[in-house]
Amino acid sequence: MDQFHFLNGQLFCEATPVAKIAEECGTPAYVYSRAAFLQKYREFANAFGELHPTICFSVKCCGNLSILRLLAAAGCGFDVTSGGELQRALRAGGEPGKIIYAGVGKTDPEIVDAINAGIAAFNCESEEEIENVDRIAAAMGRTIIGAVRVNPDVDARSHAKTTTGKKQTKFGVDIDRVEDVFDHFRSLRHLRLAGVHIHIGSPVLGAQPYVDAVSKATGLIDRLTAKGHEIRWLDCGGGFPAAYEALDDGPGIHEFARVLVPLLRNKPYKIAFEPGRYIAANSGILLTRVLYRKSSGDRRFVIVDAGMNDLLRPTLYEAYHHIWPTSLRGELDLPGARRRGAAPPDAEKVNIVGPVCETGDYLALDRPLPPTRRGDLLAVFSAGAYGFAMASNYNNRPRPAEVLVDGTNFQVIRRRETLEQLLAGEDAA
Ligand code: LLP
Repeated sequence: MDQFHFLNGQLFCEATPVAKIAEECGTPAYVYSRAAFLQKYREFANAFGELHPTICFSVKCCGNLSILRLLAAAGCGFDVTSGGELQRALRAGGEPGKIIYAGVGKTDPEIVDAINAGIAAFNCESEEEIENVDRIAAAMGRTIIGAVRVNPDVDARSHAKTTTGKKQTKFGVDIDRVEDVFDHFRSLRHLRLAGVHIHIGSPVLGAQPYVDAVSKATGLIDRLTAKGHEIRWLDCGGGFPAAYEALDDGPGIHEFARVLVPLLRNKPYKIAFEPGRYIAANSGILLTRVLYRKSSGDRRFVIVDAGMNDLLRPTLYEAYHHIWPTSLRGELDLPGARRRGAAPPDAEKVNIVGPVCETGDYLALDRPLPPTRRGDLLAVFSAGAYGFAMASNYNNRPRPAEVLVDGTNFQVIRRRETLEQLLAGEDAA
């Protein structure tokens, strides 16, 4: 069930009209559904249930403590990519034994903190990093477990900026060299390499690239095992797509499970996944108000109070986010309210733009939208992943509030930033 749905022409999140949230909390605001997060997490866990995998939610896509707390309580682990994300995962009650740390540039203090926390594994991305982690563990008198992130040279057919599994990218160790790397570091005293990690991109737009990458990884593990390396787990990464254009677009998680489970069942090692957007994207929306409308040449603009600093994805990746008024007037096609290309008869094609001083500051271009007026509230759908997480203070704009809905209740889980907070730290002036 979609937790963002129209009822009598009003958009609800669970049993709460989103207009009520906007009135009380202001706009722009990210609104998340508690039920949607749990539902998506359970759907994922059920789809791959036969493998009993460790599921590590990718903190980078939506790291609010309240969200992480509810996932941790449901049994979810975490994939982190910085010391900051590690602190969030731990503060939220994440079990260190289910925390995996990947990232090409881990600093010494970050490595020390992660060793102290006792995380499940370091996914090391280069030989120099392997040496460094071993050196730091030695200095701390510890022996720890790690994995090698392997670059399988598979094209995820994702956006060029989010493809990670091709040789030309900075991620992981080239699959052609990785056996030598395991052999070379076989006798490290403080870092035991016992896992293989892959993550080929985000999102991976079809199941086939995933199948190719996982097949390469399982073949690699067979070869490593034959050489006497003890491999205890395979972390398959994240990148499972979310439905952005309509709720039923693209292959669902069961389609991925149908082709991946046969490749991974009955293996003598544990399986991990790192889903982010699959769980978070459609668990959140961004609420924004129409400030002004205007025309220039043949273009019509709807200027809203959320900009590229609040939601960067359209500007950075030309990403599609469905946008629709939260209050429908007249005989609008209700199902269309949540589907790309929906265009009621009186729709006008508009550019939905923000207040930031850049031509690239837009949420949508040339988009059919029912007629709007000043003050109307719009919902930007599928904004729960990489929405707030990538928000910035560009143009000295405070970042939006984050609100979590639970049935008829809602709670501000991150207050809107204040101008005072933006100036703090610049006391020298
Ligand atoms: N694991 C690793 C090692 C990752 O680097 C990522 C995402 C994930 C898991 C989660 O991927 P997901 O399941 O969420 O697709 N800002 C971009 C996405 C960049 C993703 C970076 N890594 C966007 O807004 O689409």
